[in-house]
Amino acid sequence: MKALICQQYGLPDTLFLTEIPAPVVSKGRILIQVKSCGVNFPDTLIIQGKYQFKPELPFSPGGEVAGIVLEVGEGVENLKKGDKVFALTGWGGFAEIVEADAFKTVLMPEGMDFVTAASVMYTFGTSYHALKNRAQLKPNETLLVLGAGGGVGLAAVVLGKIMGANVIAAASTDEKLAVCKLAGANECINYATENLRERIHEITQGRGIDVVYDPVGGDFTEPAFRSIAWKGRYLVVGFAAGNIPQLPLNLALLKGASIVGVFWGAFAAKEVSESLTNFKEILDFIQKGLIKPHIHAQYSLENAHLALTEMMERKIIGKAVVVL
Ligand SMILES: NC(=O)c1ccc[n+]([C@@H]2O[C@H](COP(=O)([O-])OP(=O)(O)OC[C@H]3O[C@@H](n4cnc5c(N)ncnc54)[C@H](OP(=O)(O)O)[C@@H]3O)[C@@H](O)[C@H]2O)c1
Repeated sequence: MKALICQQYGLPDTLFLTEIPAPVVSKGRILIQVKSCGVNFPDTLIIQGKYQFKPELPFSPGGEVAGIVLEVGEGVENLKKGDKVFALTGWGGFAEIVEADAFKTVLMPEGMDFVTAASVMYTFGTSYHALKNRAQLKPNETLLVLGAGGGVGLAAVVLGKIMGANVIAAASTDEKLAVCKLAGANECINYATENLRERIHEITQGRGIDVVYDPVGGDFTEPAFRSIAWKGRYLVVGFAAGNIPQLPLNLALLKGASIVGVFWGAFAAKEVSESLTNFKEILDFIQKGLIKPHIHAQYSLENAHLALTEMMERKIIGKAVVVL
């Protein structure tokens, strides 16, 4: 089968397309003929050996696939050959065939296309867990989303609106903010050209932010935390900017505020039934037409490395998808 391979850790342009043997299905697992693979920030880290999981070299990146079941392993009862599914694989999705755990695989609802199916689990799963379970976001609260044009950021904007919040989207370009506005953001802040704290003060008339969703880290974390309202919740989602910011803890004391960690993968493994409930609710939002993932571009397997390069260059708005 064809696969885009990481032979040694490096940047996306070190990946190469080659023929490798197809995986052999093992107990409790299935083989999926990949139709599409969502691109996520961890894909850029895993190929550099900088992610929390380090698959044995050589491997293909690509952690979120949609496709057709080719074979089921011993003990798999809920899936059969020919089923259309989406699955979280961690890696291996930039290939014609991938092996997946049956318990991390879900049947695609009737009428859903493969590109949509490979675009929702990871970003909407993370952001829904963050806003619903961790922040307990309530209607009419103010939600600030940093990196709002990115994968999890744009999902947080959409879900924040569904949950009835007043959403302020913050991102580095007007192009990203235009997409956030279309996704329902009430207000937008371009943090590359505007002063984040001043604009938050102006928009909230000095009241501050109830919930901050931060998948970026870096220089905007402290100003965002300083803009939090009384009893605000600051969601620590990720560090796409690269560095892990430090915060003076007196700021939390002064606002009665909480710093809340978000680790969706651990939540999905430790709180299986809550995670499944979330997932059913997300599928319900999709079927009601409340969620339509924004697809930045589709890439062939040959060009999948470009999706990773563009993600590292902050060029992707919403979701990039590799289509086979
Ligand atoms: N905690 C969890 O469970 C969980 C789950 C999923 C993802 N994450 C994390 O969330 C973060 C975002 O993931 P994603 O898939 O949404 O990524 P993404 O689509 O690339 O979005 C990240 C955003 O961060 C901003 N950014 C600022 N500096 C950046 C830099 N140096 N390189 C890249 N982006 C930069 C960009 O927005 P601007 O250009 O507008 O600043 C970009 O849109 C990652 O750190 C990921 O590991 C965490």
